[in-house]
Amino acid sequence: MTEYFTIRWENGIVQMLDQRMLPEKVVYHDYSKCSEVAHAISEMVIRGAPALGVAAAYGLALTAYHSQTSRVSDLKEELLQSAAELQNSRPTAVNLFTAIERIMGIAQHFSGMEVMQLRGEVIHEAMKIAEEDRKMNLKIAQYGQQFIPDQANLIHHCNTGALATASIGTALGVIILAHNRGKKIHVFVDETRPRLQGARLTAWELKQLGIPQTVIVDGASGYVMENNRIDACLVGCDRIAANGDVANKIGTYNLALVAYAHGVPFYSVGPVTSIDLSIKDGNEIPIEQRPDDEVAFINERAIIPDGVKVFNPAFDVTPAKYISAIITDRGVAFPPYQTSLYKLKNG
Ligand code: MRU
Repeated sequence: MTEYFTIRWENGIVQMLDQRMLPEKVVYHDYSKCSEVAHAISEMVIRGAPALGVAAAYGLALTAYHSQTSRVSDLKEELLQSAAELQNSRPTAVNLFTAIERIMGIAQHFSGMEVMQLRGEVIHEAMKIAEEDRKMNLKIAQYGQQFIPDQANLIHHCNTGALATASIGTALGVIILAHNRGKKIHVFVDETRPRLQGARLTAWELKQLGIPQTVIVDGASGYVMENNRIDACLVGCDRIAANGDVANKIGTYNLALVAYAHGVPFYSVGPVTSIDLSIKDGNEIPIEQRPDDEVAFINERAIIPDGVKVFNPAFDVTPAKYISAIITDRGVAFPPYQTSLYKLKNG
């Protein structure tokens, strides 16, 4: 059983597990300001698209909770400033932006005179966002079961578990439920360079749950598929474009290509909130560029000669044609995604 939590609201304090320290140490931080939450997001204390949505919502709830003003217009202004800070934290996961939009929509449409009432509505909406994420995870896990045979050898990239969401996770949630239902699961865990979310976080979660696993370097997936029967690859998503192109952790596209070449089904897994129909295709998805040092150093030790250029995109886009199906909390989308995603999102 897991005995940790990823993020929690506790009487005007946001508590977060510092994922940068795992698996070495379990350390929690308390935040009382939205600016601290925005900083924690950009520093990746918390990460994973659905968890970022919850963190952003709680960040705005902190602003409402601690505001000293007695004027509704002032609180609306404070919320606008906090929203701008959060919007500048990380650009790719759409969940962060939809959470902000939902809360700012409440503020914008609020026509009452009482600050306490607006404050209450903002905090209530933030709690709702977290609760919805919990429910979505369980539905995704159920829809995903049809793709997991009773004995399954799987490959997973990055971390999509409890550390990335408010509950059991998305792609990892599918795997965990399969294991809990008695299926014989083994997971090859991509280490996920450069921040090692697979090796540090996914392996940590799977170990606690007793799910058999083997960590591989990202570049080993071709060899592993060539020499083992792999039943499926399951990955998460940060943003799904209207045509089914999917942005996810860097290396996902490579894994999809290798899976395609070996005829291994490749599933992208995430909540409907990750579908962004305003984005026509993957070219329009903003891709976060992270600091060079994430690639150039391991544990503060340089692994690249000084002065050599580094390119560190945090995400890539897997073209829809390499994705066998997109598993969501409202059902499964199959190609052609243009119509199936629209139906799931608006149906
Ligand atoms: O940079 P990260 O760790 O935030 O990237 C996380 C991923 O790419 C996940 O696969 C995605 O957010 C889905 S998490 C359920």
